[in-house]
Amino acid sequence: MGTAMATVSPASGGTTPGTDAVLARAATKAAGPAYGPVAADIVEAERIFDRTLAPHRGPFGPLVEHLKHYRGKRLRPALLLLTAKAVGKALPAHHTLAAAMEMIHTATLVHDDVLDEAELRRHAATFNAGWGNKVSILLGDMLFTHAFHLTSTVDVRACQITGEVTNRVCAGELRQVAERGNLELSEEDYFAVIDGKTAALTECCGRLGALYAGASEEVAAKMAGYGHNLGLAFQIADDVLDLVGSEDAAGKTLGTDLEQQKLTLPVIHSLHRLPPAEATKLRELIRAGGAELGLRVLHALEKTQSVAYAKRRAEEFAKAARQELECLPRGECRTILEAVAEWSVRREK
Ligand code: IPE
Ligand code: IPE
Ligand code: MG
Ligand code: MG
Repeated sequence: MGTAMATVSPASGGTTPGTDAVLARAATKAAGPAYGPVAADIVEAERIFDRTLAPHRGPFGPLVEHLKHYRGKRLRPALLLLTAKAVGKALPAHHTLAAAMEMIHTATLVHDDVLDEAELRRHAATFNAGWGNKVSILLGDMLFTHAFHLTSTVDVRACQITGEVTNRVCAGELRQVAERGNLELSEEDYFAVIDGKTAALTECCGRLGALYAGASEEVAAKMAGYGHNLGLAFQIADDVLDLVGSEDAAGKTLGTDLEQQKLTLPVIHSLHRLPPAEATKLRELIRAGGAELGLRVLHALEKTQSVAYAKRRAEEFAKAARQELECLPRGECRTILEAVAEWSVRREK
């Protein structure tokens, strides 16, 4: 098997970045909000992430190397670590858990890009674009298993919490795939999907950050509530970006929701507000697909002001997230958590 492994390298002609300059540019562009007081803790979590995967570097050199530079905004480690410090102190268990959360998140992205047939992620080629779907699926699996191994080094409770949450994430993605092409999707169905695929993990970050800093169950529940509401706001904003955002700013392939016939909040809202004949026309438009589908759908959405509606809903969840923070002592970490909630709905990436 050794020889076969050694051939795991990017497919020729892919856009996999090969130079330090490209990687440096990607890292700068991917940078998210400033996480000030936990910047060093994030670096420590990244060290754990890299160390965990280092043994695979021999057989899967280019793959692990690409992963090493495949840095996003590090939102989930930041949430976990900021929560820890807002409640008490960031401890070694937090660093390990932060690395595990980012690993689970990365695994879902690697798989998600296969599902969405996306080519760009974090300003670089997706794994599926560079190595194909088979390698990407197995890489995602490997990230999941390493994440669970990491949580097992903390304790059973961390493993249980993470396991339950990852079940919800996978069920959310599965439900979304099952609903593809269902142009009658309700808001309730949409929220069930994003509750799982996105909010479960951000909720977990808030909970773990608080619990392992010695917070009471009550405070941990509030921090979980913060993460949950933030995740909903974040995903609604992401779904708006998929329609109206710039690929250059976002650093990832956009427009895939409609291409994959996945209905998101603005479209669902419009379909339920338009007069029946116009809603039928919009459904036909989406079903037919084709060039400039996003622009044509956006035009149809104007009448019902559905993008504005989705942005308003995202703002509401961001506000609910900020309210959960009121139980915390005032301080820099709480202020940044508040700012992250605000940023999550105004971001371009
Ligand atoms: C992307 O998450 C997936 C969604 C939940 C919308 P991020 O936007 O946090 O991705 P990275 O980690 O910064 O690349
Ligand atoms: C979020 O959904 C994916 C996960 C939470 C796994 P999207 O499909 O909208 O994410 P992006 O837009 O590709 O980052
Ligand atoms: Mg996607
Ligand atoms: Mg998206």
